[in-house]
Amino acid sequence: MTAGAGKIRPLVAGNWKMNGLKAGLHEALTVRDALTAPLANIAADVMIAPPATLLLAMADACHPGPLSFAGQDCHVNASGAHTGDISAEMLKESGATAVIVGHSERRADHGETDRIVQSKAAAARRAGLTAIICLGETIGERNAGLALSVVARQLKNSVPDGATAADTVIAYEPVWAIGTGLTPSPADVAEVHGLIRRDLITRFGAEGAAMRLLYGGSVKPDNARVLLTVDNVNGALVGGASLKASDFLAIVRAYES
Ligand code: PGA
Repeated sequence: MTAGAGKIRPLVAGNWKMNGLKAGLHEALTVRDALTAPLANIAADVMIAPPATLLLAMADACHPGPLSFAGQDCHVNASGAHTGDISAEMLKESGATAVIVGHSERRADHGETDRIVQSKAAAARRAGLTAIICLGETIGERNAGLALSVVARQLKNSVPDGATAADTVIAYEPVWAIGTGLTPSPADVAEVHGLIRRDLITRFGAEGAAMRLLYGGSVKPDNARVLLTVDNVNGALVGGASLKASDFLAIVRAYES
C-alpha cells in the first residue's frame, strides 16, 4: 500500500510550538514554494501551526498558495476579559483555517481536561475553524495496559457532539513519543487508530468514517513512510521536524505520487 491510499485526503501539519521569530518565516516560504513547484505532486494537504505572534505574517507571506495555517490553542469564548488568551475568531481573522486543541503539553501545563478541550473544539467550529483534537496516553498508562481505554475516554469526552469530517481532525499522540525520538510500533499505531475509527463511526456514522486521523510523536523523515502507511493513519502532526523546511518537506514527500 502506498501512503495516502484510500479516499481520505491526508493532512501533514507542523506544530512549531513556542518556537519561531520573524527570521524563521522563510522556512514556511520554502515549504510553500516546494508545494507549488511545477513537478510537485503531493497528494496531501499541508499546514503549519506557528506561534500566534507569527500567524498573520506567515499567512500573508505565503498567500496565495496551498499551504494552510493553524493556531495552537484557543479560548472557549469569542472575546472578553481573558488576559493573554486568543479566541478562535482571532485566529481565523489572522489567516488560520484550523486550531490544535488539547495538545498534551496544554493538558499538562495548563490543566486542560477533556471537557475543556471539547469546549475549545466547539469554539473552533463556531468560528469556522477545523479543530485538530489531540489524544494520547502517558508511558505509565501504556505500561499499565491502559492505552486503549485512556484514548477511548479522551475521544469520547473531547470531541463535541455533531462533529463532522470537515470540522474535526483527530491526532493520536502518545505522550511518551513526543519529542523523545521514541515511536510506537506500526502494529500499536494500527491498534489505536483502529479503535478511534470504530468509535468515531459508532458515534458519527459516515462523518466518523471520513474524519482524518493523524499520528503524532517523533515523526521524522526516516520513519514517516512506515508510520504514514499504517491503516487508518491519514497524516501526521509533526513537532520538532517541522521547524526546518527540509525535514518537514521530507516527511510531506511520503505522499508524493
Ligand atoms: P514531536 O512533537 O514531533 O517533536 O515529537 C509532536 C507534537 O507534539 O505534535
